[in-house]
Amino acid sequence: MRKFYITTPIYYVNAEPHIGSAYTTIIADIIARYKRFMGYDVFFLTGTDEHGLKILQAAQAKGKKPKEFCDELAQKFKDLWKDLKITNDYFIRTTDPEHEETVKFFVQKMKENGDVYKGTYSAWYCVHCETYYDDEEVVEKDGKKVCPVCGREVKWVEEENYFFRLSKYNDALKRHFEENPDFVEPDFRRNEMLKILEKGLKDISITRTTFKWGIPFPGDEDHVIYVWVDALINYVSALGYGRGDEKFKKYWPADLHLIGKEINRFHSLIWPAMLMSVGLPLPEKVFAHGWLTVNGQKISKSLGNAIDPREFVKKYSNDVVRYYLVRDIVFGKDGDFSEEKLVRRLNSDLANDYGNLLHRTLAMVKKHFDSKVPRPYENEEIDRALIEETNKTVKKFVKLMDNYKLTEALDVLWNYIAYLNTYFDRTRPWILAKEENKERLATVLYNTMEGILKVALMALPVMPDSSEEVLKRLGFDEKPTFGHLEKWGILRAGAQISHGKPLFEKIDLSKFKKVVEVNKEMKEVETGVITIDDFAKVDLRVAKILNAERVEGSEKLIRMDIDLGELGKRQLVGGLAKHYKPEELVGRLIVVVVNLKPRKLFGFESRGMLLAAKYGDKLKLITVEGEIEPGAKIS
Ligand code: MSP
Repeated sequence: MRKFYITTPIYYVNAEPHIGSAYTTIIADIIARYKRFMGYDVFFLTGTDEHGLKILQAAQAKGKKPKEFCDELAQKFKDLWKDLKITNDYFIRTTDPEHEETVKFFVQKMKENGDVYKGTYSAWYCVHCETYYDDEEVVEKDGKKVCPVCGREVKWVEEENYFFRLSKYNDALKRHFEENPDFVEPDFRRNEMLKILEKGLKDISITRTTFKWGIPFPGDEDHVIYVWVDALINYVSALGYGRGDEKFKKYWPADLHLIGKEINRFHSLIWPAMLMSVGLPLPEKVFAHGWLTVNGQKISKSLGNAIDPREFVKKYSNDVVRYYLVRDIVFGKDGDFSEEKLVRRLNSDLANDYGNLLHRTLAMVKKHFDSKVPRPYENEEIDRALIEETNKTVKKFVKLMDNYKLTEALDVLWNYIAYLNTYFDRTRPWILAKEENKERLATVLYNTMEGILKVALMALPVMPDSSEEVLKRLGFDEKPTFGHLEKWGILRAGAQISHGKPLFEKIDLSKFKKVVEVNKEMKEVETGVITIDDFAKVDLRVAKILNAERVEGSEKLIRMDIDLGELGKRQLVGGLAKHYKPEELVGRLIVVVVNLKPRKLFGFESRGMLLAAKYGDKLKLITVEGEIEPGAKIS
C-alpha cells in the first residue's frame, strides 16, 4: 500500500483558532480523506507550537504559567478539530517530552556536522511572527519600523547566539528547486523562493538567551532553541525520528506540507536546509495557500470577526462550510469569506443542483419501484453518453485532485451534476411513468442514481456527512473506495432506498442574519464595560525597588532598578521626584504594570509602570500590606 504523509503547520497557542486558522486544517483534512479513499495509507499530522516569546507573553498577560496556559489552548485546538470532524492521525505539541528529545537530537546532529557556530546577532525582531529581519526587509510606517508580514512594530535585538550555516546550503537548495520544479507550489510562490536564493541566503540565529520558555540548546543551557527551529522539527519528531520509531521509516519524507503563504520561507528554504544538514530526504512538496479575509476585512479580534468556526458550522453545517471554502476561495490564492456568497452557494449548488436531483430521483423510485433500486434494462444512446461523460469526469476529477487543484475539481464535479440534471430532464421519466414504460423508467432512474452515487463518492472528502447520507439513501452500504467510482453499475438492484427530507435546507437571503453581525451586536451592548478577560490583559505584579536615583536634567523623574522575581530585574522610570527622595524608595514593595510597551524617558527605557494614587498635588505609591515575594501576581 502506498503511503501519504500530510502535515498542517502547528498552530501558535497565543490565541484561540478562528476561521482563517481552521482553513489550513480543513483543506488538509480534505486531501487526507481523498488519499484514504484512493487507497493510500495516510498519516495526517497537526498540532500546536507552544514555545517562544510570543506564547510566553500571552501567558503572562493572562497571569498564567506558560505550560498551564498552553495546556488550555492546545485543548481548545483539539476540541475544535474534533467538532469539525478533522481526521488527523496524531496531534503533536512542542512541549511534549518526546518532541523535546528529538529536537535536541536533531540540533546536536546539525552541530556535529559542523553547521552550528557561535556569533553575535543583531537584527529586527517581530515577536508576533517570531521572525528576524534585515534592515532592508523591515518597513517604515509613521516613523516606526514595522514587520513586512504583519505590520506590527519590530524590535532591534542584539544577542550572542548560535547560528546555523544556512548560506552553505544555498547552491544545494537551488539545485533541488531546479531538479524538482514542483517542489513548491503554486508557481508564483516558488518564484518568490527562487528570488531569495538568487540574492543568497544568510546564516540564521537559532538560539535565544533573553528568556527561558523553549527547549535548552544542547551543550549550552543558557540558550534556548529558536522557536521556528523547534517547530519545524515537529514534522519528523511526530514520527519518532531519533527515537527508533518505525513510523519514521514508513512515512518520511512528507508528501505534502500544507502551509499559509507567509510561512513559506521557513518551509521551503530553512527546513530543507536543516534536513540536508542532518542528511534526511526532503519533503516531496510544500504547498502555500493564500489568506482569508472575512467580509472583506482582515481577520482580527478587535474587528470582531475572529469568529469561532463552530458558529458557522452550527448555522450552516460542516459540509456547507467546507464546500464553500473550497469552491469559492480558489485554492492557492487569497480569498474572502463572505457569508452571503456562502448562502448563495448553499441555495444554488447544494440545495438546487445536487439536493433537488437526489430528491426528484428518489421520489420516483419510492413511488414507482416501492423504494427499491430498479433493475436497469438495455441502455440507449443517451445512456451510453452519460456513462462516457461519467468516465471522463472521474478521470478529470482525479487528475485535478492529485495536483491539489481542489477548486477546479469541484467545478468539474458540478458540471457533471448539471449534466445529470440535463440527462434527467431529457429522458423525461415523469412521462415514462405516465406511459407506464416501466423498463425504460427503471433504466433512466437507475442511471441517474448511479450518477448520483458517483457524485457522492467524489464529494466524500469535501462533504463527508452529506455523502454518507446520500450513499445510505441510495441503498449503498459498502465501505466506499475508488473501485466504486471507476466502474459503472455499482448499485444493487432491489436494495432498499430511503427518500428522506431535503439534503440541504435553503436560506432566504432577504431575511438571513450574518454570524459576524450577530457578534458585532453583542459587542455594542457591552461598550463601556470591560469583561474579566479585558481586565486580565493587564499584568500587575509586586516589585521590590533595588535602587533609585534622580534622572539628570529632569525635575520629576526617578530611575529605578526593580526586582520582579520570576520575571527578572528591570529598569523603571517614574515621575516621583517631587514626592519622594530616592533613598526613601529603596526596599519598598510597589505595584507595577509589567506588560506595557516599553517607553523611553530622558534616554532611559522604562519597562513597566508603577501605580500611585493622586489627589491634587498629593501622590502616594501603591504598596502591599506586609511581606510578599517580588513578582507576585495581583488579581
Ligand atoms: N506556528 C507557526 C507555524 C509553525 S509550522 C512548523 C504559525 N502558526 S499560526 O498559528 O500563526 O498559523 C498557522 C496557519 O494558519 C498558517 O498556515 C497560516 O497561514 C494560517 N492562517 C492564519 N490566519 C489565516 C487566515 N486569515 N487565512 C488563511 N490562513 C491563515 O505560523
